[in-house]
Amino acid sequence: MDKFSLDRDWKFYNGDFELPETKTHTECYMAAKAGGAIGAASPDFDKSDWETVNLPHDWAVYNEFEEKWGPSQGYKKRGKAWYSKRFRLDESDRDKQILIEFEGISSYATVYLNGSVIGRNFCGYNSFVVDATDMALYGDQVNDLVVFVDATQIEGWWYEGAGIYRHVNLYKKNKLHIAHWGVFVHPIRKTVDVWDAATDTTIENSSYENKNFRLKTYILDKEDNIVGKDEKEFSVAGGNKIEVNQSILTYSPLLWDIDAPNLYTMVSELYENDSLVDSQKNTFGFRTIAINKDNGFFLNGRHVPLYGTCNHQDHAGVGVAVPDSVNEYRIKLLKEMGSNAYRCAHGNPNPEILDYCDKYGILVMDENRNFNSSADGIKQVQDMVMRDRNHPSVVMYSLFNEEPLQGTPTGRKLAERLQCEIKKLDATRFLVGAMNTGVTTDGGACDILDMTGFNYITHTYDDFREKYPDMPMLGSENDSAFQTRGVYKTDHSKNIIDCYDSEAAPWGNTYRDGFKQVDTRPHIMGLFIWTGFDYRGEPTPFEWPSIGTQFGIMDTCGFKKDAFYLNKAFFTDEPMIHILPHWNFADGEEVRVMTHTNCSEAELFLNGKSLGKKNVDKYDMADWFVPFEKGTLKMVGYIDSKEVCSDEVSTANAAKKIIITPQNEFVYDSCDDAVIFNISVVDENGVSVPTADNLIKFTADGGEIIGVGNGDPNSHEADKAEERHLFNGLCQVIVKQSDGAENVTVTAASDGLESATATVKSVANENKKIFIPSVNEKYIAKWRQAVDLSETRPDPNVKIEDHDMNTWGIVSVGSGYDDKFKNVTGYGLYKTTVNINENDNFIVFRELTGNEVEVFVNGEQKFKGDCQWGRKVEINVSDVNGDADIVVIVNSTKADGNGGISKPVVITD
Ligand code: GAL
Repeated sequence: MDKFSLDRDWKFYNGDFELPETKTHTECYMAAKAGGAIGAASPDFDKSDWETVNLPHDWAVYNEFEEKWGPSQGYKKRGKAWYSKRFRLDESDRDKQILIEFEGISSYATVYLNGSVIGRNFCGYNSFVVDATDMALYGDQVNDLVVFVDATQIEGWWYEGAGIYRHVNLYKKNKLHIAHWGVFVHPIRKTVDVWDAATDTTIENSSYENKNFRLKTYILDKEDNIVGKDEKEFSVAGGNKIEVNQSILTYSPLLWDIDAPNLYTMVSELYENDSLVDSQKNTFGFRTIAINKDNGFFLNGRHVPLYGTCNHQDHAGVGVAVPDSVNEYRIKLLKEMGSNAYRCAHGNPNPEILDYCDKYGILVMDENRNFNSSADGIKQVQDMVMRDRNHPSVVMYSLFNEEPLQGTPTGRKLAERLQCEIKKLDATRFLVGAMNTGVTTDGGACDILDMTGFNYITHTYDDFREKYPDMPMLGSENDSAFQTRGVYKTDHSKNIIDCYDSEAAPWGNTYRDGFKQVDTRPHIMGLFIWTGFDYRGEPTPFEWPSIGTQFGIMDTCGFKKDAFYLNKAFFTDEPMIHILPHWNFADGEEVRVMTHTNCSEAELFLNGKSLGKKNVDKYDMADWFVPFEKGTLKMVGYIDSKEVCSDEVSTANAAKKIIITPQNEFVYDSCDDAVIFNISVVDENGVSVPTADNLIKFTADGGEIIGVGNGDPNSHEADKAEERHLFNGLCQVIVKQSDGAENVTVTAASDGLESATATVKSVANENKKIFIPSVNEKYIAKWRQAVDLSETRPDPNVKIEDHDMNTWGIVSVGSGYDDKFKNVTGYGLYKTTVNINENDNFIVFRELTGNEVEVFVNGEQKFKGDCQWGRKVEINVSDVNGDADIVVIVNSTKADGNGGISKPVVITD
């Protein structure tokens, strides 16, 4: 196993620090050196009072809603912050390649290791990898991985969160290894039954010697049978890399399809002199994709209209730091609706989302964030493609969304450049731009891509088709219709909109009209509805106090609005019917009752009495106006005059009892896995109370509450809390499992209601994460050292001249004996200045070595003794406050003896 998790136990400081002044010559000289970072990026910076946090972490979601921060980012402050994780690597890792993969940081990140920058990434959406090999420390020495995050940078007009909001992984690799994201499997159908699982593997040799290797590549099916293999021998020069292309024939594999998402594993094994030095497993699928100007999209030769949704990444309670199981819950809901496509708006998603799209059979439009062809911009598309190109779910890459330059020659040049860079890495996906203007302008980005994506502008569909009859067309963004979950009377003064599909943004369409526009034009390959889920920020058409959107087919908790059933009626053929609204109104009030169904007729019954059967228009549906009368309202669906399905709602009495519905059947043990518990209330007959707004208080056992929500776009209640009001009958609590707990149990209580308890069992996970522990101690790692040993005992009070860079060197101590004492005798002199605060009581030298060692603090001798066999020395500094000069004199009297500050030095309380 060469993959480890760095998710746990980071130190976090919400804010920034002034850089210390570098006035003296020495300070400037030292700060300019490898390992010389100053301020919070320095390994010696005291981080002991920083908060401890686990990843994924979104600090913005902890902040209060404040009007001054504006609507786009959901009225949350973002700002700047520092993270640090101190950890050890094994002595045996010393000869390895150490890589650190950040799955996503919002927004601009600078990564330091042991005082040197090892990476910068200025985009909040791409995953990126930094090579930590050269700066890493091993054995007793401690690594300080520091990340400075600048989330004042805006990349979106929606809530982007702030911080290291996705997982961080560390890889330990042999110097001869398969490159990170270095395996690309792109199966080609040769004949009906024969496939070539063509695989390109990049082998990297980060040693400096030439290496010979054998690459063994084989395909495993679900039962671990080998169904195709190939082996090749090559050599690769030191410090170089090579791409190996293999053709792996496979016979009659099970195809990956949206209805049968069959997956295979490509195992790549790298051998050097018959010993296995590296291996990688990549999941992939056999499938073909094609597009056609007249009929749209084809999967495995079958016409599949794309019924998609666009989605941002945040969820109730957790912001953008979404646990994997919550992402899985969201993908499953979309699948349940019959949606078969997912657009990652407007940037690369969490990689886990693509795993779930592979698993559940959802086609993905993967999207690039920045329309930019600088080296940084190109790296961002490269990261996207290299990370995501093995996913059978990914069928297209979107280069941009609604770029003002899209219809201009500049936009064309940008698109051409990005297209070229993508095709070099993956020529098997279609490329699209999501355009809201400029589609019929010659010379822009539109006609160089594989298809034209239309964001809204349905009125241009026909003109475009006439002008560019050969260009495939796609609804890349549609509708922007509004619904507030559980609301059946629009009240703009309260920022709420009914769920009868009555309103959409001026540039959009209602769900019904939007679907009709696409469905009646078979050459348009499908649509991506804006959006599957409500998200924070962009509270269009309202502003404060609304803090989130109402565009979602589901709310931020994944609670279904009526739009869920409306779109399900459009997307699916299996007979279904849904009735709206609920049935709790004032006696005699006239209520609009509507059906969302794929049946051709529907009949409404109130308390058993028919209120009439109606033909259902495929797009518009059907409705009735009914004076309210307590009881049960039932809607029956008919196809060919046969009753095929029904749905009903009953009047609820006062809330009596809380109901908890866990969304996972189990939780993985010791993996930071989380469970969603959905909360509702019922009356004495078990009927859900659709208007309930009780305050529910939670306690969790075997886990930690990491967020609560209720989907109300106007609520300012805290996400990080142990209570939440129901909003129109529902709320949600998300609980993260505690290591080793047998169960995760949640209790929900509310004044005047019967409380409830629900339990989810923990199970072992065979792919358990291995977490690298943190070492949270204050280190004194950086020292100055007299370059030469002296024959006579040096003066402990000797001053280092500010201009003296040459008789005094810079050393990082603690990694063993000092080479200076090898085969010679003499006095070595070490000096540093540290800040001692009132909680610091001891300086602990974990090991000093030398025949005679002396330690001085501010000129006063604190220790003198024989350390020839190595000795731990503790110096009491409880009487010291502020900057202290520490001097160590090591006298080695035997040429075959050892000397030095041989183990790390720490300050303790
Ligand atoms: C589009 C845009 C989306 C969102 C949407 C709201 O123009 O691409 O990000 O802002 O409008 O209707």
